[in-house]
Amino acid sequence: MHSVNTPTTRTRDGADTDWWREAVIYQIYPRSFADSDGDGIGDLPGIIARLDHLVALGVDALWLSPFYPSPQADAGYDVADYRDVDPIFGRLADADRLITEAHDRGLRVVVDLVPNHTSSAHAWFVEALAAAPGSPARDRYVFRDGRGPGGDEPPNSWRSVFGGPAWTRTDNPDGTPGQWYLHLFDAGQPDLNWDSKQVRDEFVEILRFWLDRGVDGFRVDVAHGLVKQADLADWHYPEETTSGGHVEQPRPPMWDQDGVHEIYRQWRTVLDAYPGARILVAEAWVQPAERLAAYVRPDEMHQAFNFEYLEAAWSAEAQRTVIGRSLAAADAVGAPTTWVLSNHDVLRHATRLALPVGAPRPRGIGTDDPQPDTALGLRRARAATLLMLALPGSAYLYQGEELGLPEHTTLPDEVRQDPTWLRSGHTERGRDGCRVPIPWEADSPSYGFGPTDASWLPQPPIWAEYALDRQRDVPGSTYEMYRTALRLRHEHGLGRGGLRWMESPDDVLAFRIGSGTDTGAETGGEVIVVTNLSAGPVALPPGTELVHASGPLTATGQVPTDVTAWARRRAR
Ligand code: GLC
Ligand code: MG
Repeated sequence: MHSVNTPTTRTRDGADTDWWREAVIYQIYPRSFADSDGDGIGDLPGIIARLDHLVALGVDALWLSPFYPSPQADAGYDVADYRDVDPIFGRLADADRLITEAHDRGLRVVVDLVPNHTSSAHAWFVEALAAAPGSPARDRYVFRDGRGPGGDEPPNSWRSVFGGPAWTRTDNPDGTPGQWYLHLFDAGQPDLNWDSKQVRDEFVEILRFWLDRGVDGFRVDVAHGLVKQADLADWHYPEETTSGGHVEQPRPPMWDQDGVHEIYRQWRTVLDAYPGARILVAEAWVQPAERLAAYVRPDEMHQAFNFEYLEAAWSAEAQRTVIGRSLAAADAVGAPTTWVLSNHDVLRHATRLALPVGAPRPRGIGTDDPQPDTALGLRRARAATLLMLALPGSAYLYQGEELGLPEHTTLPDEVRQDPTWLRSGHTERGRDGCRVPIPWEADSPSYGFGPTDASWLPQPPIWAEYALDRQRDVPGSTYEMYRTALRLRHEHGLGRGGLRWMESPDDVLAFRIGSGTDTGAETGGEVIVVTNLSAGPVALPPGTELVHASGPLTATGQVPTDVTAWARRRAR
């Protein structure tokens, strides 16, 4: 049943408590992975039917973006009930079956937890709206009187990450204007008050609910946002709303407050009481790396997404610096580093890396924007991926990147669903372009996404070229490049290796990694990684031979520009 890619660490026995330290974790965005019932929205039965893809690819675990009941104001990151499954995705029994079927295949399952805010349709918020100012029901959220005459102005200057004010005014039961509530994201996502004991207790119970059902961990949404500075002080750097701090500015009053750590220490004790190693992964847009490392101290979370790495420019200097800083910061607290290039919130890296080096990361690309060079983007994306998969620690993949999918950069504006597009007054396109349902079969309806042509976002015709069935068993395809990389990564123990930089020209990255036995045996041994970010080809280090590469070498065996090569010492 298992392909040769099945890593031997894929067991759930007690000895394997460190699985997450080097795991490759595949992010499934349920809406867009596989649709079983033809309604154009991916669902849990669809995922179950495609689990063997993850086994063939060779990943260790999957992380599911939210599938809970939700009005879908922010594609499910607005949760109305934390203990059930939205009917568009299936039933609770499907979630149970998914967990079992994944475990049967040696795959671990990480689910998304959204503790910063609920949906405005959550029973607690409905109750809060009906309750009086100052009531216990309102105390679970952040309600305040407005400023100015009649309380007509928002309580402070904070902006929503999606654009517009971070406050919405409520109506009193008699129809007169009432208090305002805080929402750092969409108005349909009211922020919870984490000073409330009820809120804290409820989330411990939610953790237990899913731990009891067998999940192996939680990806914690907006982990740096739960606690706000008590005085809700005005903040005058609106352009930095998503970021947890920049050296040249004071720390924002809504992000990365020291009080969040106490919450994660409590959660850690909850997880540690369960058998096996269950993990917490922080989504925390916090800089610098040293502040992020605080989230993964030994008694807090296990991992944090390395967004500084994701955002690093495609230059040797930027890559070398971010790799070094990330390893040092994580080492200082004994945590593994993580690596990530794409997710459901950013431009897919096959498109992002085609943008001019150092250019700011746009929030979405539309038809009237300059169109990125797809071939250049893919070439760099493959090089970046092969570099990433050689690095020590844990790596995250986002569905479709193993096919080399670019961002959909020509989506008609009318079909956009990300609240960013609306709330920014149509100035930021938002994240729909990385969320388009993925192609499995070139010649099937909806490219094999589902049994019908329906797709909640239209798929571009180029999807046919990227479909899995056009890449499987095709030497040199992006899919086969990933598969081979994951197999070799496992065989050579790259995820747990120590990285040793080698001497190289300034614009070339070169390092040694892996178990370090210099035997040249069929499996195992040290790997020498060369990423060429210079303008011309470079030679592999003397005495080495090629093991894997992100693109063809030159006729004389040199590594061309924007290619990563893995080599090993030639057998004596
Ligand atoms: C996280 C999610 C993103 C969502 C936001 C609000 O950043 O990854 O998709 O919009 O939180 O929940
Ligand atoms: Mg469906």
